[in-house]
Order: sequence, then C-alpha cells, then structure tokens
Amino acid sequence: MTHSHHLDPYWLRWRQRIDQCLERLIPSARISPPLLHEAMRYAGIGAGKRYRAALVYAAGHALSSSEEILDIPACAVELVHAFSLVHDDLPAMDDDDLRRGKPSCHKAFDEATAILAGDALQTLAFEVLSDPAWVRRPAASRLQMVHTLAKASGSLGLAGGQVLDLNLASQDPTLKTLAAMHQRKTGALIEASVLMGGLCATDDSEILTRLKNYARPLGLAFQVIDDVLDGTADTDTLGKPAGADRERGQPTFLSVLGEAPARQYAQDLREQAIGALDDFELDATLLIALAHFTLERSH
Ligand code: IPE
Ligand code: IPE
Ligand code: MG
Ligand code: MG
Ligand code: MG
Repeated sequence: MTHSHHLDPYWLRWRQRIDQCLERLIPSARISPPLLHEAMRYAGIGAGKRYRAALVYAAGHALSSSEEILDIPACAVELVHAFSLVHDDLPAMDDDDLRRGKPSCHKAFDEATAILAGDALQTLAFEVLSDPAWVRRPAASRLQMVHTLAKASGSLGLAGGQVLDLNLASQDPTLKTLAAMHQRKTGALIEASVLMGGLCATDDSEILTRLKNYARPLGLAFQVIDDVLDGTADTDTLGKPAGADRERGQPTFLSVLGEAPARQYAQDLREQAIGALDDFELDATLLIALAHFTLERSH
C-alpha cells in the first residue's frame, strides 16, 4: 500500500478532464496549417502523468475551488510542459527519439514542425489563460496567473534552467549547482502549478506563501526522482529512453550522489514540503498525497 493510493480516483478524473479540455483548446488538424495542429495534438493530448495539472487541482481543492475553474489553468501548465518536452527532445538538446511511449515529436513529424508546434503550444497556454471566456476569474487574478506562468517558463525559470542543464554536460558540478539548475528547469513550473491552483481561489499572500513553501522542495524532489528513474527504470516503463542521461554524460543527482542518497535527499525534500503545510487550516490531504506520489511513482 502506498501513501498516494487514495489519489487514484482523482487521477482518473483529472486526466479525463485535461484530455477533454485540450481536445477543445488545440485546433483540429482540419484547420490550416494541418500538420502544425496535428503535431500540437500529438504532443499535447493523451499520454503524460498530468502531474502538474494534478498540482493545480489539488491546490485548488484545498481552497474549495471548483474543478471547472481549475481546468484551464491546469491545461495551461500542461501546455507549457508539453512544449518544454518537445523542445527538450530535439537533436540540439537531449536528442531523444522516444517520448510518452511514442516517437518524439520531431521524429513523428520533422524538426521545423516540432519547433513550431512547441512554440504554438506555449503561446496557446497564455492565450487561453488570459481569455475571460475560458477563465471565469477577475481580470486581476487572470493577470497574476499569466505573470506566474510566464515567469516560470522564462529565462529565470524553465528556459534558463535548460541552458544551465546543457552547459553542465560532462562537467563535475556541486550539489548546490545541480539543485539550482533543477530548481529552475523543473521546479519553477511545478511551483507555478501549485500557485495557479491557489490563485483560482484566493489572493491571500499568507496562503500563497504557504503553497510556495510546499511547492519549492517538491519541484526539486520531482527532478531528483526523474534523474534516479533515468538510471534505474526500463524504457518501457518510462516511455522515454532509459539511461539517456548517462549516455550523454549528463551529471544528475543519481551520478553525483548514487541511488540511495539521492532517494534520501528526495525524502528530505518531501518532508520539507509536507512540513510547510503543518497547521494549515485548509484540507491539504491531496497535496500531501501528491508529495508522496512524487517519490513513489515508477515513471
Ligand atoms: C518529465 O516530466 C520532464 C521533467 C521535467 C522531469 P514528467 O515526468 O511529468 O513527464 P510526463 O508529463 O509524465 O510525460
Ligand atoms: C527536462 O529534464 C526538463 C524540462 C524542462 C523539459 P529532462 O531532460 O531530465 O527530462 P526528460 O528526462 O527528458 O523527461
Ligand atoms: Mg533535458
Ligand atoms: Mg530530456
Ligand atoms: Mg530526465
């Protein structure tokens, strides 16, 4: 029995909601240019754990927000995430041919289409998030969500983190350097996901700070486990090439620390995340279960 098992019924529903919603948000391949829309749908809909969407839903759930309000912010973070994976797999970056159990976007289509599909997935996130017809929240709170997601995606977040990641190849980084890189390339979007769930219900800075303090160590733990799984799980389970980091000479928490200490580090981070929710006057059950899931997951 895992600590995250009671998320199971939620996962099922959240994944269905995200797929149904993305079906509507991403233009049909019948609309011109068909190949671009097909590539966006290929990379955006279907597989994927939907971990970041789950964080939006769980944070919103803690603040009694309805799932109808959370759908679009949850889709927006998954759209940015999908874009980041399409670009991450490109030959100029990690050069990986398999993603979510299928050929990577640039393999199924071509490089130019994958680059542009990534671009368009990212901008679609902001298009829908800023649209009052989609997000029925006051303009100020929509603006705050756009700001939060944009900052997490940019040079101080995901994009900057990816640069630090690429610069690190074949080097011998300290744990501090590695953590700072992971915090940006992966942690920033995870933090934004939790915050956006919060922003769907409140602008109370004390609550939002609490959510940030939960999300920050969790985002780092998520990438620590991604590093561990790269070197310890198989390709079928992962749906992406196992051992790709080692093959590329990419320093990771696994290569720097070894498996047991890396898992221990992730456990410490999980305890920090859960600790941030101590005496939280709201129902943090799902957020706590997601913290456990972060370490218990097999892919
Ligand atoms: C993979 O993220 C990329 C990282 C930032 C570690 P996920 O493990 O959430 O990938 P999907 O969405 O389930 O495919
Ligand atoms: C990617 O990290 C983080 C992103 C911002 C996409 P990885 O390169 O480790 O992700 P995977 O292992 O390919 O999913
Ligand atoms: Mg990468
Ligand atoms: Mg990669
Ligand atoms: Mg990885």
